[in-house]
Order: sequence, then structure tokens, then C-alpha cells
Amino acid sequence: MKFGYFDDSKREYIITTPLTPYPWINYLGMQDFLSLISNHAGGYCFYKDARLRRITRFRYNNVPLDMGGRYFYIKDGDDFWSPSWMPTRKDLEFYQCRHGLGYTIITGRRNGIEVEQKFFVPVNENCEIHHLKITNMTNNKKDIKLFSFIEFCLWNALDDMTNFQRNFSTGEVEIEGSVIYHKTEYRERRNHYSFYSVNTPIAGFDTDRDTFLGLYRGFENPVAVEMGKSFNSEAHGWSPIASHMIELSLLPGETTELIFILGYIENEPDKKWLKKGIINKEKAYKMIEKFSKPEDVNAAFEKLKEFWNRLLDKFNVSTGIDKVDRMVNIWNQYQCMVTFNLSRSASYFESGIGRGMGFRDSNQDILGFVHQIPERARERILDLAATQLEDGGAYHQYQPLTKRGNNEIGGNFNDDPLWLILSTVHYIKETGDWTILNEMVPFENNPEKVGTMFEHLKRAFYHVVNNLGPHGLPLIGRADWNDCLNLNAFSTNPDESFQTCDNKDGKTAESVMIAGMFVYVGKEFVKLCEKTGNFELAKDAQKHIDNMKEAILNYGYDGEWFLRAYDYFGNKVGSKECDEGKIFIETQGFCVMAGIGLDDGKAISALDSVKKYLDTEHGIVLVQPAFTEYKIHLGEITSYPPGYKENAAVFCHNNPWIMIAECIVGRGDRAFEYWSKIAPSYREEISDVHKIEPYVYCQMIAGKDAYKPGEAKNSWLTGSAAWNFVAMTQWILGIRPDFDGLLIDPCIPASWEGFKVKRVFRNSVYNIEVKNPNKVSKGVKKVIVDGNEMPSNLIPAFSDGKEHFVQVIMG
Ligand code: GLC
Ligand code: GLC
Repeated sequence: MKFGYFDDSKREYIITTPLTPYPWINYLGMQDFLSLISNHAGGYCFYKDARLRRITRFRYNNVPLDMGGRYFYIKDGDDFWSPSWMPTRKDLEFYQCRHGLGYTIITGRRNGIEVEQKFFVPVNENCEIHHLKITNMTNNKKDIKLFSFIEFCLWNALDDMTNFQRNFSTGEVEIEGSVIYHKTEYRERRNHYSFYSVNTPIAGFDTDRDTFLGLYRGFENPVAVEMGKSFNSEAHGWSPIASHMIELSLLPGETTELIFILGYIENEPDKKWLKKGIINKEKAYKMIEKFSKPEDVNAAFEKLKEFWNRLLDKFNVSTGIDKVDRMVNIWNQYQCMVTFNLSRSASYFESGIGRGMGFRDSNQDILGFVHQIPERARERILDLAATQLEDGGAYHQYQPLTKRGNNEIGGNFNDDPLWLILSTVHYIKETGDWTILNEMVPFENNPEKVGTMFEHLKRAFYHVVNNLGPHGLPLIGRADWNDCLNLNAFSTNPDESFQTCDNKDGKTAESVMIAGMFVYVGKEFVKLCEKTGNFELAKDAQKHIDNMKEAILNYGYDGEWFLRAYDYFGNKVGSKECDEGKIFIETQGFCVMAGIGLDDGKAISALDSVKKYLDTEHGIVLVQPAFTEYKIHLGEITSYPPGYKENAAVFCHNNPWIMIAECIVGRGDRAFEYWSKIAPSYREEISDVHKIEPYVYCQMIAGKDAYKPGEAKNSWLTGSAAWNFVAMTQWILGIRPDFDGLLIDPCIPASWEGFKVKRVFRNSVYNIEVKNPNKVSKGVKKVIVDGNEMPSNLIPAFSDGKEHFVQVIMG
């Protein structure tokens, strides 16, 4: 069952009922000012950091669901309603929500009044624009009142939710004309304020929530709206809001437009105040002026569309299969931008409070984003490296506003450092910019301790080498990629988190996953060494990689698949000898990606075991059999119910490792089958089962052991975005940036006749046409570039600003 449809020409998903099985959201903004908006106009906005600079308030896990957002109310005679359906939930004659790239347009109609609400954040501006078009579709003149509503957050979102003895006394506002300003002198060192404006005179306003709503009422029936009058309330403490009341008189067929701006401003320290207690509004005036007319707003909207057109033009495929093209060309790339911007901080499943930017997460996000805006990827890599510890280890997270490592969240995840090498390698392969390696970057944000970026990568590599266990495999530390496989925690206290509880200084528990990753990433590190003339280092690194391969082959293989780990006591994890958790996905992916077992059948056997034991109709589950009881020596993974999260859900993040591995062994049909099982566009048909947005990947889909297999959770902010993009574009379609050019090495379903790709790569445009006359999955027989046959399938980086025509014949 579907609740909408894709409009590929507009790059929109169009939701046709407000009764989606869950709020389906979108993001506005790309850089500093960011917003979440649901198909009911729910959600909130913040500046740079969802925890430290929250602008509007949102109550997670509220009842009813998705209450709180930017709301408009129409008071029409005795009736009142909202064009976004929520919060009034009054029946609409027409409802439509168009989620596009960086904008959302929600239209609702009732009693012949139609209201179109266009929400977007203009490129490089710190505001949300709410552009309303109100049309009288009846044959009579209509006199109606429109009320706006947003609720301010008292900045620090955690304080805002917890510290009421203080908060209720600090909120302050100023009202000037049609603009409501939210400020506070509390913690006067604050340099910021926000405002909500409308470009027309108002007939009234409210800034005190309890006055507007009525103390014991909810958003669904504010007393002001019900009575059809504002109280002109001025908030002092309690909960400041901004609500305008506008009187509208519309002739039959007449449309009127209104522009609301929800803005965020920072003043320089000596320019904060106009006079005592009155904030300096210069910058707000400018922002309001800039978007005062519909033409200005329309132009800003066009600019946003052009921005995305240019961005998405860098990779465009046509396979002739809608479900593939729309994911690759539109939604997967869009999601990669969003995950790059937000890491795992703010979604409808991440509160914006709990997690900052994850070290491993943000590094992986770069893989799917780097081709879009490489300069931003470069900056992010350097920011991440600056939080690295001197011994090569990493803080697990950092706060985006301060760019400082966040100790509260724990550390000592021994896979973390390797991801920094991987992101940097992807950056260099995309851009050819080797200068990044010479950048001077601090350790632990300490300007006294600085090294080149290359030095950082070297320490990341040797962090693994310096932390090996009894089998010569990497010590796992607190956990590896699988945060929930905690082999040194032994926690019996339900009140502590596995990420921060006491962790034994484990000298035994080893991760075969980090081992596979070390070989996969290490090979690239060796190339970096060679390319930069560090030949001795390259040799030494290669020696460690060879040793690691040996260790995996000797101690990391279990007969039919790769083991997952050794526990604290030196016992096998992910082995046929175990009663539960016999086979895990991660090592089958990373070891084959690393090339281990390709020549002796181990790789194929591992992948066939994945098919046999882990594959389901909804994707590949993480582990089997699922754990049915808490096992103290394995940690958090065993404490989730079977079929959920790391305990045997389909983790969409690591399915692509198997797709890539299948491409490496040449099985394109299987790689594509895995891709399509979890691709949102394929799951759209079963939206009632899948439950969450059919246009973006989720972190997990409930596994076969779950109560409702196929039900997804944790949409948007997940490494699934980047990895699925890499698996599809670089391995299945096989258009793969390399240090010295663009490699073309598809691995597709044998039935495909071919496909076309436009790829912008290092300042040249590659128009690639792949033909598959012999119906093979893999193998390139001939490559012709601009009429000349090439010696190999590695196409040079022309870097000449021109277009090139590439014909590839498979066979
Ligand atoms: C979540 C985390 C990620 C981790 C994964 C597996 O997606 O964000 O860092 O690797 O879970 O535990
Ligand atoms: C990761 C896991 C999640 C776990 C969290 C904290 O994000 O995906 O399941 O709850 O880490 O341990």
C-alpha cells in the first residue's frame, strides 16, 4: 500500500494523505540553519547544533505524535482548521505534501479556502521562509482570520527540556510592528536572537503560550483561535511563542500571498544592544527586507532549485528502471547531503541532544557526499582529524558548534581511527587533491600538538598495529563498528550505558571485523605512502597487512564463513560452535572486500553462507540465530529483542558491504538483488509494512525474528545512505574514482543491456555509455574515449573543463 508517489521530473515525493503510517519528514537548509519538517508541518529548526542552538521547540515522543511545528490556523466563521492537517486534524477537502530537495510544500483546503504553504531555507541564509498562498475557491467573498504559530526553544535543547526552575523565568520577547523577537538576557554573553515576521500589518499577536492556547488546552484548539482574537500577550518567562493574527478579505477566486520569516541572528559583542534591554535589530531588518516581496521569495526558491540541479548533475544515471534512477539520481544523493550535514544528531529518531557528530559516522558519510561539494568534505575531514588523540585513537563524537571531542559519549572504539583513512582516501580519489595530506592539524584540538594530516593517518594505521591481541588480530576495545558488541563490558547494572560503563582493559577480545577493515583500508594507506614517496613506511605497513591477512586466514575463518571476534576469554564469537549468534554479516563483507579468501574459495563460501543463513525477503539480517537472552560477555547486542537493532535486524548500513563483496566476486545479479531489497523506492509498494519514508534509507528494518518483520525504523541519519550510494554507483554501476583516474568496472545483472552515466569528475564531464551485448555481469572488453580505444578501463583524469564521451563494451 502506498501513501503517495514519486514525481521524478520535479524531484519530489508527493504524499496524498496526512494519515501516513508515521510522520514522513524532510530537511530544510544545507549549512548552518537547519530544519526538520514533517508532512504535517511538525518539527523544529536550529543553528549549526541541534543541542546548543535550538531555535524552536519540539517534544519528542509526544502524544499525539508529531505535535509542534510551524502551524497556521484559519478561522472561518465558527470553524477553524489547519492546512497542514495537524494540529487541528480537521477533515480537509484536499491535502497534499510535496517533499522536495530542501523544501516542503503542504497544501490544504477546507470550506473552499485553499492554503499552500511553501517552507524552505534559502541558500546561504539563516532563516526559514514560510510562503503562503491563500485562495478563495468559493463564489462568495470570504472574511477570514489567519493565525500563525511557532514556539521558541530556550536555546540549549537539553536545558529546555529539563531545567524548568530556571527556564520559566528567563524567556523574553520584543514586539515591533509585525515582528516578534525572542531574546533573553539570561546568560547575557549570548550574542544571538531569533524572530518571526510577516510582511503585512497584523491585527494582533500573542507571545505567551499559555495565553494563546489557554492553560489547559493543546495546539489543536487554541483559545485565541477559537475566539477569533489575539490577546496581544507579552511573554515574561514561561514559554515564549510567536503568533500573528491577520485579517483577510478574499473575493471569489482571489489569492493573497503572505511571507513569514523565522530568522536567526548573531550580533558582534559590542553591537548586541541598541540601548539597555533593547536588542540591536539591524541584521533582522535587512533579512526581512530581503524577502519582503513574493518576487524575492520566488527568486530565492529558484536559486535553491538551481543549487540542487547543479549538484545532482554531477552524477546521473539512466538504466531505464525508474526505481533505480530515482534513488541514484535524486533521493540517495539528497540523503547523503543530509547525513553529511547532520551526522546522527537530529531526526525523528535522534533527539538532537544525545549525539553530536560521530567520528566513524561522519567519516563514512563523506564517502557518499564527497563528489557533491568536495571542499566541504575536506573541511570536515580536517575537523574530524583535529579531534584525534595523539596515540591515533579517537573521540567517538564531537559537538559541531565547538568542534571539540565529547567525552561523555565514551571512546576506545578501536575501529574509529581507520575510518579517517578511508574518508581521506575517498576524498583524494575524487579530487586528486594531495595537498590535504600536508595540512597541519592538531591532535585533540590542542594547538600545541600538531602534525600533518599524513601523520594523523599514519597514527590511525598504527593504532591498530599497536593494539593487537593474542591471535595477532586487532583488540576490539569498547566495540568496533558494531557499537553493541561489547566484549569487555560485563555490565550488570541496568542504569549504565554500554558506551560509557566501566570497560575492562581487554587484552584478549579481538575483532575480525577490524582485521578485515585494516586490510581493506591499509592497502589504500600503502598507496598513499608510495605516492608520497614514503617507501620505507609503505614497506612496513605492507608487512603488517600481510601479517593481518595471515591472522585472518589462520584464526578468523570458521569453515564456511569468517568469524566475528574472540571474546574476553579467548572464545570464538560468530562461530558454528556458538549456540546463538553463529554467523555475523560484518566480517563476511569486510573480509571479502579486503580480498581475503578470493583465491581459495573462502570468499565465495562466506558469501554463500550469507545467502543461506542471513538473507530474508526484507534484506540481509545482521546475525543469526538471533540472541534470545542477555549474554554478559557479548554486551548490548544480546539485550535487544530478537529481530531488532543489532540483534538480527536488517541493518541497511552493512548490507552494501555484501553487495560490494558480491561485485568483487562478480555476481551482479545477487548484488543487485540485495540492493533492491532494501532500496526505499522498491519498498514503497509496501509502505504500510515498511512504515517510514519511502524515499530515504533507514538504519534498520525489523528482521525475521521480530514481531513485525519488514517494519523499518531510524530513517534518514544513517551510514546506509553513503554505503548504498557507494555500492550502487561505484560497484554495481562500477564508476569508481581512483587515484589516477576514473575506473569503469560494472557488475550488473546479466540481463541488463547497459546503461548511461553522466559523471562530473575532476573538472571534466564524462558521458559514459555502457553496453552489455553478451549479457555478462562483469568484465570490460573495450573502452573507447573520444573515439580512441583505451589500453585499460582506467580513464584518465582529463581535468580540462571539457566533455568526454566514453563507450564501454562489456564482455
Ligand atoms: C549506528 C551508529 C553507528 C554504528 C552502528 C552499528 O548506526 O550510528 O556508528 O556503527 O549503529 O552499531
Ligand atoms: C549505536 C547503536 C544503538 C545503540 C547505540 C548506543 O548507535 O546503533 O543500537 O543503542 O549505539 O549504544
